[in-house]
Amino acid sequence: MNPLIARYQAVRKHTLALSEPLSDEDCGAQSMPDASPIKWHMAHTTWFFETFILERMERDFAPFHPAFRILFNSYYNGIGEKHPRPQRGLLTRPGMAQVRAYRADVDARIARLAASAPSAELDMLLTLGLQHEQQHQELMLTDVKHLLAQSLLRPAYMEIPLAPAAKAPPQAWVAFDGGLTDIGHDGQGFSFDNELPRHKEYVAPFALAARLVTNGEYLDFINAGGYANAALWLAEGWDWVRTQNLRAPIYWFQDDKGAWQEFTLHGPQPLDLHRPVTHVSLFEADAYAHWVGARLPTEAEWEYAAARAPLETGSLHPAGALGEGLRQMYGQCWQWTSSSYAPYPGFAAAEGALGEYNGKFMLNQYVLRGSSCATPDGHARRSYRNFFPAGARWQFTGIRLARR
Ligand SMILES: [Fe+2]
Repeated sequence: MNPLIARYQAVRKHTLALSEPLSDEDCGAQSMPDASPIKWHMAHTTWFFETFILERMERDFAPFHPAFRILFNSYYNGIGEKHPRPQRGLLTRPGMAQVRAYRADVDARIARLAASAPSAELDMLLTLGLQHEQQHQELMLTDVKHLLAQSLLRPAYMEIPLAPAAKAPPQAWVAFDGGLTDIGHDGQGFSFDNELPRHKEYVAPFALAARLVTNGEYLDFINAGGYANAALWLAEGWDWVRTQNLRAPIYWFQDDKGAWQEFTLHGPQPLDLHRPVTHVSLFEADAYAHWVGARLPTEAEWEYAAARAPLETGSLHPAGALGEGLRQMYGQCWQWTSSSYAPYPGFAAAEGALGEYNGKFMLNQYVLRGSSCATPDGHARRSYRNFFPAGARWQFTGIRLARR
């Protein structure tokens, strides 16, 4: 069997497993325009294989359902019409059973195609489709967390309590000499187009915090009036805080006795002061860095430093810092950088609709580096560029400090 098909089946199975703890009602709801229903993720990732592989390569192609081409198109203008994103939660039909049948049908047809007409182009598209599905696996967890957080029942996605984290070591700094360095993917294995082309950048000497900022440290910022001090905030960030009357990260709340709790995929938990602060916006990360007299790293600094960092993998909530040296670079929280999400010099999007994958989003967003506890195993790499608008905070986003 094509080894890619074994991988295909494993990734596709993992998506189904992610939906297992949820009811069909959970899977259909949409909590905000930025988040999508689980059912939609499960159908859209299937649509990707159907549209970009089967429709092009399958002999006598017929769609599983003609309306799905529009219903489950996310943002590809080159494919045609799209169902409006904020209305994905209104799709009570197709139901979950039909979406599961859609997945099984496309999976069987992909396996037949790979057996009967193998090609380098098919392998390339399968690889892209699986990387795409892994990105949606992370979104399934962050989107369902946001959905479950809307209920006062505060339901747990996974009914396993979190054990207290080990005491976080004092913050330490790791110094780097910098210099002329290669930034971008080195061509070994898969990368998205936004990691290319590899190019030279000069990085001045800098220091990076050895671990992520903890909940305890961030609580100090709150207790010191951080959310009420305009001097710490970018102008747009200050407007963002004021108009929404914010005073803590998105999933923090105080119980009847005033003790801080954090809503997690394990349900509400007492705020663990030794775990990394997560679900903060770039505005909050930047204000915190300002408060402690540091700054956020640039993406080139992060990538340069990550040459020494081990790949860690995650669970369902960011874990405390263990070991020595630079850690928590991967597998806990995505780390905001001060770098705008822009094309690397010489960037060229692919021809056709797949060229819409990354390039057209390179405006008004910031790069995040590393990976999070929700990132599937094997998906992270040093040159990976994630990106979100400065106010986004439903992803597992944390704070890595830098200074000259
Ligand atoms: Fe997608």
